Amino acid sequence: MESPSPLLEVRELVTAFPIKSGLFRRTTSEVQAVSKVSFKIYPGEAMGLVGESGCGKSTVARTILGLEKAKSGSIFFEGKDLTKLSNKEMRALRKDIQLVFQDPDASLNPRMRVRELITETWLVNPGIVEKEDWDKEVAKLMRLVGLNPNSAHHYPHQFSGGQRQRICIARALALRPKLIICDEAVSALDVSVQAQILNLLQDLQQNLGLAYLFISHDLSVVRHLCNRISVMYLGKMIETGDREDIFETPAHPYTKALLSAIPNPKPWLNPNKDEIILEGDIPSPARPPSGCRFRTRCWKAHEICKIEEPILTPRNPNGHCSACHFPMLQESSALHTVPGP
Ligand SMILES: Nc1ncnc2c1ncn2[C@@H]1O[C@H](COP(=O)(O)OP(=O)(O)OP(=O)(O)O)[C@@H](O)[C@H]1O
Ligand SMILES: [Mg+2]
Repeated sequence: MESPSPLLEVRELVTAFPIKSGLFRRTTSEVQAVSKVSFKIYPGEAMGLVGESGCGKSTVARTILGLEKAKSGSIFFEGKDLTKLSNKEMRALRKDIQLVFQDPDASLNPRMRVRELITETWLVNPGIVEKEDWDKEVAKLMRLVGLNPNSAHHYPHQFSGGQRQRICIARALALRPKLIICDEAVSALDVSVQAQILNLLQDLQQNLGLAYLFISHDLSVVRHLCNRISVMYLGKMIETGDREDIFETPAHPYTKALLSAIPNPKPWLNPNKDEIILEGDIPSPARPPSGCRFRTRCWKAHEICKIEEPILTPRNPNGHCSACHFPMLQESSALHTVPGP
């Protein structure tokens, strides 16, 4: 059987920001927030993108959406390279990729009622829903995201935080997208509300065949929704694979450290869970360490890690890849010679 084509394919993406200094604010160098990142998302699939603050997750999202310019690499959406489209072509495609981000208050105009917040998207993108069907469609969307359609005339402040995030999801769905990028979409919510929104996203994925790029700094959040997970560190993709492979046989020390940081809800069932505490700060992406970018915080680091950058290498036939010189080393035989920067 022929395998389906990816909905989104990011190839060797580089996004850089200029560093300006001196009296005249001249560009003196650049920070590569995203450095040769590649991944694919298939229709109906959810991919989790995780990593600590500043590793470049939002920059990946913003570049896909055309809000930042790619320095090099390509972003194929349904086979079209988004980095080569004109503004007009990009506008026509943009409705297929919607963004839901952390702060519903920043994305919802407080002076607009829910009905207007949703119908505004159809005003800006004519031809999706005929005006006479607006009320019916608003009610349908509100029901779809678990809101009472009778509150269509309420303002955002009349809803709870979780409900406001549901309004943002309804607005995103109004344009009938194929891909939704969730950038820390549940991070600001209480854990119980987080679970409700994640369940909603999962139901929508099943019922509407949606694909997600789900960005989070928290691996336990992506575990619920995402069948594939990619881990970033300092602008680089360091591990990617099926959820089971990432959680059960992580190959990169950084992924192991992130996993060990997930609180253990039933410590009596797994009392010997190794806890790996990462020491040191994340280096500046403007001056990344030579070789492996993680080596300054890695308990397995050896001389080669200082000299040679590890490339993403397959660890199994299911697409589990990691970028580490010593993925298979046992913890006990780790080489405790952490080289300086
Ligand atoms: N507009 C910009 N100008 C200069 N540098 C930027 C800009 N946007 C992001 N950066 C830098 O790029 C790097 C990646 O930032 P990004 O926001 O993508 O990280 P992130 O993984 O989304 O972090 P967080 O989890 O905190 O949201 C950071 O070092 C950040 O300072
Ligand atoms: Mg971010």
